[in-house]
Amino acid sequence: MIPKLTSERGNISTTKTEVTAYFVFEDKTTLRHEFKKLTEVFPSAAVTLDATHFGGKELDTLTLYVKEKRKRKILLVGLGKNEKLTLEKLRRAAAAAAKAAKSLKASSLAIIEPDTEVLGWLKLGEDWESIGSALAEGALLSMYKFDKYLSNEKKNGSTLQRIVIVSDDVERFRKISLGVQYARVVCDATMVARDLANAPPNEIYPDSLSKRAREIVGKKVAATVFDERKIKQLKMGGVLAVAKGSDQPPRFIVLEYNRSKRKSPPVVLVGKGVTFDAGGISIKPASGMSEMKSDMAGAAAVIAAMQAVARLKLPLHIVALVPSVENLLGGRAMKPGDIIVHLNGKTSEVDNTDAEGRLILADALSYASRYKPQLVIDVATLTGAAVVGLGHYATGMMGNDQAAMDKLKEAGERTYERVWQLPMFDEYEKLNKSDVADVKNSGGRPAGAITAAFFLKQFIGDYKWVHLDIAGTSFLNEALEYIPKGASGVGVRLLVDFLRDWP
Ligand code: BES
Ligand code: MN
Ligand code: ZN
Repeated sequence: MIPKLTSERGNISTTKTEVTAYFVFEDKTTLRHEFKKLTEVFPSAAVTLDATHFGGKELDTLTLYVKEKRKRKILLVGLGKNEKLTLEKLRRAAAAAAKAAKSLKASSLAIIEPDTEVLGWLKLGEDWESIGSALAEGALLSMYKFDKYLSNEKKNGSTLQRIVIVSDDVERFRKISLGVQYARVVCDATMVARDLANAPPNEIYPDSLSKRAREIVGKKVAATVFDERKIKQLKMGGVLAVAKGSDQPPRFIVLEYNRSKRKSPPVVLVGKGVTFDAGGISIKPASGMSEMKSDMAGAAAVIAAMQAVARLKLPLHIVALVPSVENLLGGRAMKPGDIIVHLNGKTSEVDNTDAEGRLILADALSYASRYKPQLVIDVATLTGAAVVGLGHYATGMMGNDQAAMDKLKEAGERTYERVWQLPMFDEYEKLNKSDVADVKNSGGRPAGAITAAFFLKQFIGDYKWVHLDIAGTSFLNEALEYIPKGASGVGVRLLVDFLRDWP
C-alpha cells in the first residue's frame, strides 16, 4: 500500500500519529540540545536518552516510548553532520523514518521539519518548498513495491496508511505544503513508471503499452496511437524493421499536452519503448535477459512525466513520442546486413540487430521535426556501454545544446537523478561509417554510448537536442534508500523538475 501524504501545522507534542519522526544531527552540541528539548517536552524520555548511544548518524533510528504520548512512539532519525545536510540526505532520512514506521506496524507517521535552531544546515538555502518535497519524496518512494503478482501473504504488507509532514510556522508550513503537493504528483508518476518497467513482458507489449499510456496521462493530454498500417504509410523503416521479428505489431504513441498552445514550439520528449529486447538474431545471452523487460523504461519515464506535467498544469506545450516494438527473432526478423530506409530518407546498415533502440529512435527523432520543436529530449535504455561507464548512479547525457544540458545537470543535482555529460568529439563519428549505407547501427566496443548518440545525431532535425542514456540508472539489482530493486522510475523527477523552469 502507498500511504496518503499530507502536511499539517504543529509540532512534536501536537501530533496524533502512531509514530512521530524527529530529526537529530550528529554533532555533539546539537545532539545534546535536541535531547534537552525532548526531555523538556517528554520528561519520561530522560532515562532512555541518558542511556542511549544513539548519535544521530545518517540513517540511524531510535524508537522512544514516552509516557506523555500514551501509545504513540517518537522515532529519532539521524541526519548526520548538520553542515553537510543536503536535500538528498533528507530524502534518505525520510525513507528511513517510513521504513522504521512500517516495521513498527504503524498506520500513521508524522515527520517533523528539521530543527531551525540548528543553523548550520540552513545553508540549504531555506528553500522550504524543496525541503518539504524532499521529505515527502523519500518517505513515499521508499514504500513502493511491485507486488501485483504476489499472492496475499507475500504482498507489500505495509500497514502505513498516512504520512504527514509537520511544521510549526505559518510561512514554512505554506511552502512545505506546496512541496508536498508537488511531491505527491511526481511520486505518483515515478511509481507509474516503475510499475510499467517492472511489469512482465507478457503484460506490457507495444499495443498494451499504448493503451496504458492513454489511461495514465488522463484527459488533459491528447493521445494518438499509430498502428502498423499508419507506421507503414509514414515509412518509419526502423520501427518496422525491428518489429518484423515479433508477432506483436509495433505502435507509435503520440501524446500532446496543451495542444491549444500548438502555435508555440513544443518541447518534445522521446522515449525508447522496446517492451522486450532479446537482441534479435544477434541474440543476447540467456542470463539476465529478463531484465530486458525494462527496455521501455525511457517510454515509461516520458509517459509518466506527461501525467505529472498535466497534473501540475505547467504552462508549456509538450509532446511525447514513443516508438514501441518487441525485439525478437521470428522467421521474418531483420538480419545483420539488412539496410533500412528511415523516415527522413537516410539509410542505415544493420550491423547488429541488438542495436535496435537507435533504429526506432531514428524514426521518432525524424518525426519530431514536424513539430518544429524548441527542444527535443530523448530518454532511452540505449547501451550496455553506459552501464559500464557510469554504473547505476548517473545517466549518460549528450546533445547539441549546452544550455539545455547545463539545466538538465542542475535538475539532476536537485532531484539526485544525476546526469553526466559524455563528449561528442568529431573523431567518434567515423566509427559508425558504413560502406553500403549512410550509417551503420553499431560503432564497435569503444565508446559505445557515444557512438550510439552519434547514430541518433544523423536523424535529428534543425532543433536543440539532448539524449539521455538511462541504461544504468533505470533498473537496479540492489535496492537504494528509496529506490527498491528493479525499475527505478528514473527520468520522471528529472524531466519534470527540468520542465518546471525551462527555458
Ligand atoms: N537495451 C540494450 C542496452 C542495455 C543493456 C540496457 C544493458 C540496459 C542494460 C540495447 O538495445 C543494446 O542491446 N545495445 C547494445 C548495442 C551494441 C550491439 C552496439 C549494447 O549496448 O550492447
Ligand atoms: Mn538491444
Ligand atoms: Zn534495447
